[in-house]
Amino acid sequence: MKPILELESARLLMRPWRDEDLPEFAAMSADPQVMRYFPALLSRLESAALIGRIRGHFNEYGFGLWALERKDTGAFIGFTGLANVSFDAPFTPAVEIGWRLARRHWGLGFASEAAWTSLRVAFGQLNLDEVVSFTAQCNLPSEKVMQAIGMQRDPWGDFDHPRLPRGHELERQVLYRINRDQWRETLHG
Ligand SMILES: CC(C)(COP(=O)(O)OP(=O)(O)OC[C@H]1O[C@@H](n2cnc3c(N)ncnc32)[C@H](O)[C@@H]1OP(=O)(O)O)[C@@H](O)C(=O)NCCC(=O)NCCS
Repeated sequence: MKPILELESARLLMRPWRDEDLPEFAAMSADPQVMRYFPALLSRLESAALIGRIRGHFNEYGFGLWALERKDTGAFIGFTGLANVSFDAPFTPAVEIGWRLARRHWGLGFASEAAWTSLRVAFGQLNLDEVVSFTAQCNLPSEKVMQAIGMQRDPWGDFDHPRLPRGHELERQVLYRINRDQWRETLHG
């Protein structure tokens, strides 16, 4: 299948990563508020490595975490998109939907807008049966995005993140799911 490198929503371009995105991405990934629900801030080198891994995912699977650009200002504001879950858990193999935005662009509906577009790709083009999302139990802003795009919490899905040390405050995660039929219902409901 042809790689899906570029998408468009009402206010956003979802596009391939550029080397020029690194300064802003490194700044947001070193912002303690943006990274509040992650185990550590990222150094500039770690942010660059993450961009490399995201590009690698696009090369391998033809989809991934798209760089988000505001159409009105041209600013790079973060990422939203789809990724294969990279660890073993009761719900894997699975494709997850995820997001991270720079703080000054929060609360404007951008994460939800890009997430809707990602779901359209997941079900409309990639023909996936289901998409999952998960986050630390206390990350309510992220859970709100999951709910906003019609995902439902799996009440039996809570799990301990295998990449976090035992007893870490972010270890316990909530799991949300949406399948193709539920997605269709959100479109017509
Ligand atoms: C999670 C995040 C992407 C939300 O981005 P956003 O663009 O502000 O989200 P939206 O504007 O699309 O809002 C979606 C919903 O979340 C709510 N929301 C957004 N920020 C919120 C906050 N800080 N507290 C509570 N609710 C919040 C919105 O009100 C909206 O709910 P509604 O549909 O009921 O109105 C952003 O806060 C972020 O980048 N956080 C840090 C990275 C992160 O934690 N990523 C997820 C890791 S799993």
